[in-house]
Amino acid sequence: MTDLERKHDRAPVPRDWTYAPAPESREIVRLDERYGHFVGGEWLEPAETYETISPASEETLATIGQATREEVDRAVGAARSAFADGWSSLPGSERAKYLFRIARILQERSRELAVLDGKPIKESRDVDLPLAAAHFFYYAGWADKLEYAFPNRAPRPVGVAGQIIPWNFPLLMLAWKIAPALACGNTVVLKPAETTPLTALLFCDVLRQAELPAGVVNIVTGDGRTGAAIVDHADVDKIAFTGSTEVGKAIQRQLAGSGKKLTLELGGKAANIVFDDCALDQAVEGIVNGIYFNQGHVCCAGSRLLVQESIYEPLVEKLKRRLETLRVGDPLDKNTDVGAINSRMQLEKIQELVAAGEEEGAEIYQPPCRLPEKGYWFAPTVFTNVAQSYRIAQEEIFGPVLSVLTFRTPEEAVEKANNTPYGLSAGVWTEKGSRILWMAQRLRAGVVWANTFNRFDPSSPFGGYKESGFGREGGLHGLEPYLRFDE
Ligand code: NAI
Ligand code: MG
Repeated sequence: MTDLERKHDRAPVPRDWTYAPAPESREIVRLDERYGHFVGGEWLEPAETYETISPASEETLATIGQATREEVDRAVGAARSAFADGWSSLPGSERAKYLFRIARILQERSRELAVLDGKPIKESRDVDLPLAAAHFFYYAGWADKLEYAFPNRAPRPVGVAGQIIPWNFPLLMLAWKIAPALACGNTVVLKPAETTPLTALLFCDVLRQAELPAGVVNIVTGDGRTGAAIVDHADVDKIAFTGSTEVGKAIQRQLAGSGKKLTLELGGKAANIVFDDCALDQAVEGIVNGIYFNQGHVCCAGSRLLVQESIYEPLVEKLKRRLETLRVGDPLDKNTDVGAINSRMQLEKIQELVAAGEEEGAEIYQPPCRLPEKGYWFAPTVFTNVAQSYRIAQEEIFGPVLSVLTFRTPEEAVEKANNTPYGLSAGVWTEKGSRILWMAQRLRAGVVWANTFNRFDPSSPFGGYKESGFGREGGLHGLEPYLRFDE
């Protein structure tokens, strides 16, 4: 007995239960010092450049081109030649082979791309990369079946597609844009966001490996000026834009009367609605995933939590406890839940709106967490006592900040959920199937998730109502913006 006790005494009991660092290696990625624009299958030396930095450490990563109007013109010219020189008339089954190849190479090089995407590695590895590859696989399947997708409508490609994407899902948004465009026989000029050009530039090497014909995909980098030059270009037939509502509106004005096709995927202020008959712990996980996934840099983030009054207190208590376990820090650490805020500008926007929330009278809660000294960081935040008129209940914050409101009846929940200029997504948590359907019919949102949140599948169309934009990406619906019909 005494022996046993002594053995027990010596057993190594950990004194500290925090996680040891588990960093993913950066060695897998080779970064060039300087990148040009990818035009006609070759690298074009940029006339103007800027430096791209890591938001987690503020270190300079590479010198990037800021494409001028002339460079955009060359990219559009290359896309036009590739369109005319065979890509648009290639049989769908042949186009599909390239898309399948790209999908497979994305899978093979997924570690490299996941590291370079710059967000929490757990998310880029498990969400962005698998979904990006799945998107190419999915649209590869449609390339030779367009006649069946749109029977008796003689679908034809539109021509040159100009595509402008944001910084929150750099590679995934590229996949959402490029895969359906190529499947339908179009060629592309794509511009990644100025803060996140690197995975798009590495993707050019994926295209080289896939032996995609030169000029079918052209990638130019730069800020809004480059974007505007693409939108403006007379030889672009279709614009696909994902980003802020402000820029979306400007693009729509710019294109009015031009005959160019347009799809806009803009902001959101989604309601995540929790009824008192839901599985509470599951709902808490869904709420956390809904707003803290990707630092809240998600257009469909569940940023307004609507809680039925009868469960308000236990839910908020569970939520706060769960928040304490979120790990904020190095995006390359496999245990990290919340990484760096994308840019200083975005951090300042979050800070401004959070200050407005406090000023207007909401109650703020942030779990104790130590933020890194360098880089752009914001602690996971919950606001309670939020009135519908507060800015934090109305405006898109695009950060890890949740506003909690309450309701009593399903009618009131619908009314509050729809009380926003946006209409991109919504979530409903309840045990009753009939209530899910009742709610889904009344919520003015492009996507309604039931007992889950932020779930994506390439076969499921995604897009908004009202100021969240128009047009759908994903699924059969996602083909239509890239086709013309003889009618
Ligand atoms: P933004 O709309 O300015 O940027 C998105 C893309 O549009 C970038 O590639 C940018 O270079 C390009 N762009 C900017 N001005 C342009 C113009 N005049 N013509 C053509 N392209 C242009 O978004 P920003 O300023 O980075 O973020 C501001 C706010 O927008 C965020 O705080 C967030 O609320 C919202 N946002 C929403 C996104 C979404 O997924 N729906 C994505 C990014 C931002
Ligand atoms: Mg902007």
